[in-house]
Amino acid sequence: MIYAEILAGGKGTRMGNTDMPKQFLMLGSKPIFIHTIEQFILNSQIDKIILCCPKIWMEHARNTIKKYIGDTTNIFVVEGGSNRQETVINGCKFIEKEFGINDKDIIITHDSVRPFVTQRIIDDNIKALKKGIAVDTVIPATDTIVESTDGKVLSNIPVRKNMYLGQTPQSFNLKELMTLFESLTTDEKNILTDACKAFILKGKEVKIVEGEIYNIKITTLHDLKISNAILAERKEND
Ligand code: CTP
Repeated sequence: MIYAEILAGGKGTRMGNTDMPKQFLMLGSKPIFIHTIEQFILNSQIDKIILCCPKIWMEHARNTIKKYIGDTTNIFVVEGGSNRQETVINGCKFIEKEFGINDKDIIITHDSVRPFVTQRIIDDNIKALKKGIAVDTVIPATDTIVESTDGKVLSNIPVRKNMYLGQTPQSFNLKELMTLFESLTTDEKNILTDACKAFILKGKEVKIVEGEIYNIKITTLHDLKISNAILAERKEND
């Protein structure tokens, strides 16, 4: 089975004052998370879609999916967690309980607020997982990345050609992901906010797949404006 887990458990505080978490805001004619789900529905390799969102928004999410997508047979709305990592795991536990887990099952985790993910990116994630257990989607850094550990002076300037910016999807062999989480201590769980980082720290290989510059995460109002501009440009080119 290939599962897509759409992460929509966040509050979107950096978006400012909105009456709903940013994933439910409109982008063009549909809510942001609907655009995202549609990309996974389009991909014939995906068997089931799990949407994880805050408990109080689950009913809204279900109704919105019915309204914009209609057929909800293979879409499941599950309660998210208090941080992103916990949300990822809640989705995995739901899968384990409802469908059981087989050795070859794959989970493609994706931010609900990255609506411009492409079929090529999804296919490349699946392909890379045929030879590995974990995959991250990245783009090469174009700006120089600098590090400051105290926020006052630079502590390091890593070589730019080795630097990438992390996007999503992040995809995993489901069994390996669950086994890894079970092996983490509570302290480790609090520090390891990124599933790929957990794999690296446990000495496991994480393959990389190339993302796209426009596979942006909508974090602020500015990102929403850029996303509307991307949509408008696409419509003009249709
Ligand atoms: N996410 C999640 N569960 C959480 C926190 C975040 O599923 N407990 C999801 C968000 O819904 C989003 C993605 O992870 O699709 C990236 O989150 P990000 O935008 O960084 O965080 P938010 O909590 O949504 O926003 P903010 O940090 O501005 O409050």
